Amino acid sequence: MRVAVFSTEPWDRDFLERENERRHQLEFFTVPLAPETTALARDYPAVCVFVHDRLNAVALEQLAAGGTRFVALRCAGFNNVDLTAAERLGIRVVRVPAYSPEAVAEHAVALMLALDRHIHRAWNRVREGNFSLRGLLGFNLNGRTAGIVGTGRIGQAVARILHGFGCRLLGCDPAPVAGMADLGLQYVPLDELLAQSDIVTLHCPLTPETHHLIDAAAIAKMRPGAMLINTSRGAVVDTRALIAALKSRRLGSVGLDVYEQEGDVFFRDLSDEVLTDDMLARLLTFPNVLITSHQGFFTAEALTAIARTTLDNLDRLERGEACDNELHAGTHVAPG
Ligand code: NAI
Repeated sequence: MRVAVFSTEPWDRDFLERENERRHQLEFFTVPLAPETTALARDYPAVCVFVHDRLNAVALEQLAAGGTRFVALRCAGFNNVDLTAAERLGIRVVRVPAYSPEAVAEHAVALMLALDRHIHRAWNRVREGNFSLRGLLGFNLNGRTAGIVGTGRIGQAVARILHGFGCRLLGCDPAPVAGMADLGLQYVPLDELLAQSDIVTLHCPLTPETHHLIDAAAIAKMRPGAMLINTSRGAVVDTRALIAALKSRRLGSVGLDVYEQEGDVFFRDLSDEVLTDDMLARLLTFPNVLITSHQGFFTAEALTAIARTTLDNLDRLERGEACDNELHAGTHVAPG
């Protein structure tokens, strides 16, 4: 099948071509798919898209008019696709629900360790011949309390790693998972988790209920000096409240792999440009904030799994078969 792949980065091409084995005719476009670019997909039965492509009703209507019948998301999240419009237009939408929870979990723990031991500052210092330890005092993870908000696939992988470090584990989730007690994880209400945790790490999806879950009121419940890690979705945290808590030194450190307005900046080289996002610019001034550009998923294992599942999904769509990874109007949970 002819597939127009949008928002292509070099690694997308590498991993998709490696797994494709000439099954599908893949054409790669670096531009994102949006109402302004749908003409590129004319006469392609399928398009393959990622997290920042915009498949609103207008874009989908244009795609349908151009003969496109299938949308294959090469990610889990689907808040960028109007599923109701897709269903009305007879466009089938598939995604990759789970690829490598460990990839994101390990990145969350990398942020924790780097922040705790000030690795980002130590690296800079030593390169400049400054071998002083002032300001680099950390704490042992062993014996500390880590609160995991959302104990799904990624939250469980984080729990397994932190159990290995000897952390006391708290979790909160509207759908508690059996077996977490084996890791010593105790389910508590969110307020209690916030009050008791030295580290709070977010692994819930972005839904209407979790939008700004961590706001000023939630931060006020956290332990003074606590660490907050967000590798889930930017809007789970109220960025303004976060900045206020950093300015007042209420929070000890913050690690972010996601950011509310990331769609305008993440995945792009803006090093020659003026940064116009004042909240992001302010966050970057704090020595105790570490930001990465939505790279939690970015491992060889995860990219291999994403490519495989995407191509399998396309196989099923082409053969007119049912697909477990198909999305339907009304599905509102939006993982990343
Ligand atoms: P999952 O669906 O396996 O687990 C999510 C868990 O969150 C579920 O157990 C659910 O019951 C729970 N949850 C829902 N509402 C909650 C609430 N109000 N409070 C606490 N828990 C709640 O999803 P998975 O695979 O673990 O992914 C988690 C999130 O990680 C995704 O939704 C996505 O936002 C993010 N993600 C980030 C990536 C990155 O590269 N940084 C890559 C992939 C996912």
